[in-house]
Amino acid sequence: MPGLVIVGAQWGDEGKGKVVDLLAERADAVVRFQGGNNAGHTIVRDGEEFKFHLVPSGILYPGKTCVIGNGVVVDPAVLLSELEGLRGAGIDVSGLKVSANAHLIMPYHIILDHSGEARLGKQEIGTTKRGIGPCYADKAARLGIRVQDMLDEKILKKKIMAALEPKKLMLRPYEKDRRFAEMLDLQKMTEDLLTFGHRLEKHIADTSTLVWRTLDEGKLALFEGAQATMLDIDHGTYPFVTSSNPVAGAVTTGAGVGIHDIDEIWGVAKAYATRVGAGPFPTELFDETGDRLRANGREFGTTTGRPRRCGWIDLVALRYAVRLNTLDALVVTKLDVLTGLDRIKVCTKYRGADDATFDTFPYHQSVLHRACGEYEELPGWTEDLTECRTESDLPAAARDYLAFLEEQAGIPIVQIGVGPGREQQIWTESGRAVSAIQEHASA
Ligand code: GDP
Ligand code: IMO
Ligand code: MG
Repeated sequence: MPGLVIVGAQWGDEGKGKVVDLLAERADAVVRFQGGNNAGHTIVRDGEEFKFHLVPSGILYPGKTCVIGNGVVVDPAVLLSELEGLRGAGIDVSGLKVSANAHLIMPYHIILDHSGEARLGKQEIGTTKRGIGPCYADKAARLGIRVQDMLDEKILKKKIMAALEPKKLMLRPYEKDRRFAEMLDLQKMTEDLLTFGHRLEKHIADTSTLVWRTLDEGKLALFEGAQATMLDIDHGTYPFVTSSNPVAGAVTTGAGVGIHDIDEIWGVAKAYATRVGAGPFPTELFDETGDRLRANGREFGTTTGRPRRCGWIDLVALRYAVRLNTLDALVVTKLDVLTGLDRIKVCTKYRGADDATFDTFPYHQSVLHRACGEYEELPGWTEDLTECRTESDLPAAARDYLAFLEEQAGIPIVQIGVGPGREQQIWTESGRAVSAIQEHASA
């Protein structure tokens, strides 16, 4: 079972980082394949919290091969400061490899992200303002600057000039502001990137070949998704999405592997739902239950610190994610956060503006924007779950809740999260039976 993919099955921040960190121990390589430093992946190791934006969540294992694939957009300043922070904490980062073909987030991408949002005003997407969208736009327009370009001054300068040319008009207002003018200065930009390139050179590699080696040797490659299915640029709630494909299929293009290299795909979902940024969210709660989920789940963005919108779990969206990603199994995180709720609602259908109900995810934006959740209610529990270490430690109501999710999603739950710590993740019996990753534990 060499290729295992971990993707977000909701709107992001499901706890992918924690799941990847746990599995990384058994993996030969941990590979990011899309997104950039819009991601914020949290790992808690022995009570110490680490937040990763670009570096794959396997880096805490000394010397582990951690790959930033070609499909990732890389802000080199952010990457270097992340590496510096890790080195400062005594973490060995020698296993980090960055694809020479990954695209660079340039200072003008960040300015354009800000200005694009400002132009939209109240209709803003609520991006992380890290330059992600404009960088992917330049990649598609064939005006992107790639990691390998940092290693060649002449090519670099030429490419930056070509990339800036069509943006002149949009960037003109910023040239008057000293801070922005400095960010847009061609000479400074080139010099900065050459310095970054020099500092990153030992990490730059042909990462596809590296991943192929892992796969061909039958060792485990773990592909770490960022963002999530409902934020997918093609299949999510467009235009309130990110600018990449966080679905599992993007592993092939974003890491340079083949479809047949993928053996197992897991989706990560919270026991409820959250969303950060604007866009449709049919199960959103605007009452004290929503506030309670936010407070108990510490639902504040890892990257931007924004309060996350909270709601009940949405099984219409989850079933959509199961099908889109062909998920083999589900990891349900943050079950502990639901403790103390008298009744727990589960959205099994949507009700549209015409009052009709439907149980599949609507393709039409007008239908989705007006849809609200139709719920079934399940009994809650009062017991603290954070010390539970096996399924049988869980109260019966929590087990029933999970059984309901499993039945509705149509796939087994492989792991259950009962807290942010490594030890607070329970393997289920059915999970052990379905997932071949167990073999790698004993290998
Ligand atoms: P990611 O972007 O999917 O990696 O998720 P984030 O790290 O942005 O957000 C998930 C948050 O939930 C982090 O603060 C994690 O430490 C925390 N977390 C993960 N799993 C659990 C869990 O089972 N219970 C609780 N209470 N917190 C969890
Ligand atoms: P992880 O990997 C949650 C959201 C933003 C915004 C939209 C577009 O931690 O789960 P972008 O900056 O990507 O152009 O913003 O996508 N978004 C995320 N929401 N978790 C993330 O990553 C996200 N990355 C982007 O809030 O709504
Ligand atoms: Mg996150």
